[in-house]
Amino acid sequence: MTTSSISAGNAAKAPNAIALNAKASADFKDKVTETLALLKQAVSEFSPVTQASSLGAEDVVITHLINQNALNIPVFVLETGALHRETLALLERTQAHSVAPVKVYRPSTEKVIAFVRTHGQDAMYESLELRKACCQVRKLEPLAEALKGQRAWVTGLRREQSNNRAEVPLIDRADEATKGQIKLNPLANWTWGDVWHYIDVHQVDYNPLHDQFFPSIGCAPCTRAISLGEEFRAGRWWWEDEAAKECGLHAKK
Ligand code: ADX
Ligand code: SF4
Repeated sequence: MTTSSISAGNAAKAPNAIALNAKASADFKDKVTETLALLKQAVSEFSPVTQASSLGAEDVVITHLINQNALNIPVFVLETGALHRETLALLERTQAHSVAPVKVYRPSTEKVIAFVRTHGQDAMYESLELRKACCQVRKLEPLAEALKGQRAWVTGLRREQSNNRAEVPLIDRADEATKGQIKLNPLANWTWGDVWHYIDVHQVDYNPLHDQFFPSIGCAPCTRAISLGEEFRAGRWWWEDEAAKECGLHAKK
């Protein structure tokens, strides 16, 4: 079992995500060194390279490393039109404070309106096909735009996040065949405790939804808080089978 479980703790005391989760692995320093080396290699060997940020905990760590080390890795966010207000507020703060440019990609308004008019606001709950069709319009088409002209992209995928991600490599060349870019996963080896230890030590700004037991944050209609003992991605597309729980950004053929 590679998936970690998250403890919801005692809600009455409302501990924040740092208090709940920050716990460095014994080799934390080596992991940071490995991550930084990969980000530097990304710039020297795989430019132009860009970071995909959902503004989740992993992604704010990567953006912080990029900024701290003045790396030439611009950031992009897919603003699907269905993100939580907390995520949008963090996006604004990140745009204001990041030295690396933060570019926002949005879906075609016409296509979103046509989709909602035809299938309704809650189409994603009706069938896997409609859920994927929504992800196609709101995420995958903007992703294709964001990746145009890029040689590589950096993501916050970690092996520990789910069984589907248990073998995520640091450098994923298989993605080159499907999307045309090399995918770099510099936090592949990090634990959830490592991520929060980094956020704690460097006082990194993060999405306050993490304090409300949302470990993994996507679009609002498709993300819920998790309960005590539930798995990391249990709050994403919770009405679907575990095997289906990828929106296509990282799905393997
Ligand atoms: S998802 O495929 O289920 O949505 P997840 O939320 O776990 O992915 O995020 C994994 C990685 O995909 C993030 O670390 C980030 O690199 C990228 N990603 C996910 N959502 C977005 C987004 N809205 N904008 C940019 N990158 C994203
Ligand atoms: Fe649509 Fe949900 Fe996919 Fe967001 S995660 S694009 S709301 S189906």
